Amino acid sequence: MASADESLVCQLDDGRTAAEPCVLVILGASGDLTARKLIPALSRLHDRGALPAPFQIVGMARRTKSDEAWRAELRETVAALPAHSSLPAASWDSFAARLSYCTGDLTDPAAFGRLASHIRERAQMPWARRILFYLATSPSQFSPIVENLCRAGLLERGRSPEAWQRVVVEKPFGHDRPSAATLNAELLRFIDETQIFRIDHYLGKETVQNILMFRFSNAIFEQIWSRESIDHVQITVSEKAGVGPRGGYYEEAGALRDMVQNHLLQVLALIAMEPPVSLDAEAIRDEKTKLLRSIRRIPPAAVARQVVRGQYAAGAIDGQARPAYRQEPRVAPDSSVETYVAIELFIDTWRWADVPFYLRTGKNLPLNASEVRIQFRAPPRVLFAAQCGPLLDANAFTLRLQPDEGISLRFNGKIPGTALRLRPVRMHFSYHTEFQAYTPEAYERLLLDALAGDATLFIRRDEVEAAWAIVDPIRAAWNGIPLADAEFYPAGAWGPRAAEELLARQGRAWRNPQPV
Ligand SMILES: NC(=O)c1ccc[n+]([C@@H]2O[C@H](COP(=O)([O-])OP(=O)(O)OC[C@H]3O[C@@H](n4cnc5c(N)ncnc54)[C@H](OP(=O)(O)O)[C@@H]3O)[C@@H](O)[C@H]2O)c1
Repeated sequence: MASADESLVCQLDDGRTAAEPCVLVILGASGDLTARKLIPALSRLHDRGALPAPFQIVGMARRTKSDEAWRAELRETVAALPAHSSLPAASWDSFAARLSYCTGDLTDPAAFGRLASHIRERAQMPWARRILFYLATSPSQFSPIVENLCRAGLLERGRSPEAWQRVVVEKPFGHDRPSAATLNAELLRFIDETQIFRIDHYLGKETVQNILMFRFSNAIFEQIWSRESIDHVQITVSEKAGVGPRGGYYEEAGALRDMVQNHLLQVLALIAMEPPVSLDAEAIRDEKTKLLRSIRRIPPAAVARQVVRGQYAAGAIDGQARPAYRQEPRVAPDSSVETYVAIELFIDTWRWADVPFYLRTGKNLPLNASEVRIQFRAPPRVLFAAQCGPLLDANAFTLRLQPDEGISLRFNGKIPGTALRLRPVRMHFSYHTEFQAYTPEAYERLLLDALAGDATLFIRRDEVEAAWAIVDPIRAAWNGIPLADAEFYPAGAWGPRAAEELLARQGRAWRNPQPV
């Protein structure tokens, strides 16, 4: 039976792809990302009937294998993923019929001629000219691949209603602002900005998208969304896992580049941006870029005061021993790479002047959780505040991005009884309880959007460069300075002690996510 609220559903789009029949080419098709993220997402979209028809998926990588071998390999990986155990065998079989594999070295221009023939054999005109290229390779290969695709006539600048080609570029996009600018310039030598889809899978998460709906479809929140009411904001992305087998990659990246430059700053931009003039991709990206540019740069001399870095030492989580980062495979025994970072940022706008935004992320922390906490100002020091002092809790909103996505409001209530006693209580909205609906994985939404040409949830050129400009001075200040003893934290702790001090010196404290 339809609930009364269903008569109030405001449908902004049909939630299905508007993509026409086309071809998806995955370059780097034998890698981890393809097997663990892209193919599972595509197989679920296929199962829901959300992919265009006809539609072909072509994989390309160096290792020689047949279509059947590639399908069997993918089937095995996908079947082992918990979310896929329920995927019917028939659904996988009809999905697998869309998959084919083309062996080729991406540095060899001749391989792209073979790729073009491979596509022609499997797709008909005009949809054989509508191609989404997914670069699931190492970033150093992005621009040579785009050049080779163009030289082979597979990728052409611009678009027409009949034929389009787009390129999805994985993170990391550069390793600092100059390298991101160089990569942008290299790609733009061959294709237009409208053809480049820089992915940040965080933006595909349902609750991250909900930040905009929450803020701009509810007048009550927007009224209080400013320095007038908000004391500070905390954004936490905590990971329970260590780096595991990704030590080689992590040694080059570190938490600042791997998490802050992209995911945390993207969440911050959505939380703090001004209302866009429309829901159009460019309008939203204009506001996010403006916000990123309004973040006050941290000069080298202030890095030690406003930024805390840390690295996990040996410890235990849930009773399981965890090795120190320096003992992980492919990590230097004297590595000073940060596995934890906490930052105090200020946004120089009328709305946010003097409101600190605290961002933190780390590995081997006690929980897997991403949340945004909006901490409101304390009530005036009359009545209750005068008597309760610091025991009177200030109101807070928590937007839980994962797991158990939802929104909580914390406020004070009277404890029943004849005595006058207060304590914080919580009003909680849980996505799962409210909708009990299937929540698409981030890559499902993003792949569908890229196929349909909707760039709203992808990062624009100026946006990616603006984000690097925020983290580059921090990186530069750390350069060549080994970690001090105080910068290590045991696996299973909430980071180094200095992270607590970052807030404590302003009389504030981190609110750690709670287990669900
Ligand atoms: N894995 C993740 O969860 C994840 C998450 C976020 C972002 N990313 C990004 O996604 C990209 C891919 O990551 P990954 O983890 O999938 O890497 P990976 O497991 O190392 O896979 C790399 C792929 O590139 C292919 N390749 C490398 N050199 C090639 C060449 N010269 N010619 C043809 N193919 C070549 C490899 O195939 P052959 O060995 O057969 O040649 C393999 O298929 C990276 O940019 C990464 O930063 C990955």
